[in-house]
Amino acid sequence: MTRDSTVAVRPARNFAGTLQLPGDKSISHRYAMLSGIAQGTSTLSNFSSGADCASTLGCLHELGIGWERDQNRVVLHGRGPKLTAPAEALDCGNSGSTMRMLSGILAGQPFTSKLVGDESLSRRPMARIIAPLEAMGAKIVAGEGGRPPLAISGGKLKAIDYEMPMASAQVKSAVLFAGLFAEGETRVTEPLRTRDHTELALRAFGAEVKKDGLMAAIRGGQSLHAIEAVVPGDLSSAAFFLCAAALFPGSHLVISNLLMNPTRARLLDVLTAAGLGVSVTELEERHGELVGTLQAEGRKLKGLSLAGAEAATLIDEIPVLAAIAPYTAEGAEIRDARELRVKESDRIAAVAANLRKMGAEVEELEDGLRIPGGQNLHGATIDSFGDHRIAMAFAVSALRAQGDTTIRGAEAAAISYPEFFATLEGLAQR
Ligand code: S3P
Repeated sequence: MTRDSTVAVRPARNFAGTLQLPGDKSISHRYAMLSGIAQGTSTLSNFSSGADCASTLGCLHELGIGWERDQNRVVLHGRGPKLTAPAEALDCGNSGSTMRMLSGILAGQPFTSKLVGDESLSRRPMARIIAPLEAMGAKIVAGEGGRPPLAISGGKLKAIDYEMPMASAQVKSAVLFAGLFAEGETRVTEPLRTRDHTELALRAFGAEVKKDGLMAAIRGGQSLHAIEAVVPGDLSSAAFFLCAAALFPGSHLVISNLLMNPTRARLLDVLTAAGLGVSVTELEERHGELVGTLQAEGRKLKGLSLAGAEAATLIDEIPVLAAIAPYTAEGAEIRDARELRVKESDRIAAVAANLRKMGAEVEELEDGLRIPGGQNLHGATIDSFGDHRIAMAFAVSALRAQGDTTIRGAEAAAISYPEFFATLEGLAQR
């Protein structure tokens, strides 16, 4: 899909099918980075097809890590802990995960690297990783207001005991990755449980990671070994189809090889409480990650209850939950989700603007949204704001609207899920 492309989405009558999702974005980033600093050759199958994970691979190439890619199978030749000083700036594209997590590894390298991003990433806060990495001994120069670009001069690091001021898995990951290069044991404590893929991935690559409640600790100097892995399907991408299924009583979806990590699966509780029938079979553990086959059946939708601290545990799914909220009986109140304002777009403002264009009543709050239920929406021209999750969320909402919806900037979906619109069309019944 080219820049500034528009996609038209027609209303559907039902939603059904059997599918598999491309590999989880969060896990693909981590496995690629750890493969790069491990000893030996790693093979990652079902690697994320999104542009964000391609940005990570591009940066790794600049750091002297060789890899080959055949569709979604990536073979990476680990360099061990010592990387090559990049000749060019490392282009993280739209990917906050690439910039923040890679910074942890670069903090431990005895050279200076510059990290740049696109217009959206250049607006996002980086002070949250600069503070702990500087406390460990790295020198980081950022742009205005602690935003990208970043110039990271790394080297010898010392372990720290870090209390994170915000719930962010990316910050936790940057500190744990830097901890691999530090003298002593680095500890990081989060205010709330966030996704734990970094802890699980580090263990899968052979490192010892201690966990005690909200604290994770890693000893520096541990070496990593290569792995062969099949990345589980992305649950945050599945969220769009699950929400689409939730809109149609009688819908039916089967998704195999799907990530079922409990720190990511809060969405399933919210949708189940709202009335979606969900069952999981063939659960197994792969490299510490739970994977299974999910079946979903649409029924009448009650409200979406997701107020409170748990917002952090389903932050990536809030745009699509908000986009279907008007169609539920009781609507939704979303609070404590201020972080949404500093994602790929200001997702609170973007959701409110697009819902209003579709004729919905919605109240924008500083830290969330209040969306009454029982509303009828009409098709409209909506804007992705260059944000993949906004483009996909409103394609789902459009399935239940009266009349067609045009999504401007639909190409943004390729950041995490290039196949999204084709798959959505294949499942929508008219
Ligand atoms: C991610 C963590 C979350 C999430 C992002 C991916 C990760 O960001 O929104 O899409 O892979 O660790 P924060 O760490 O900023 O909460």
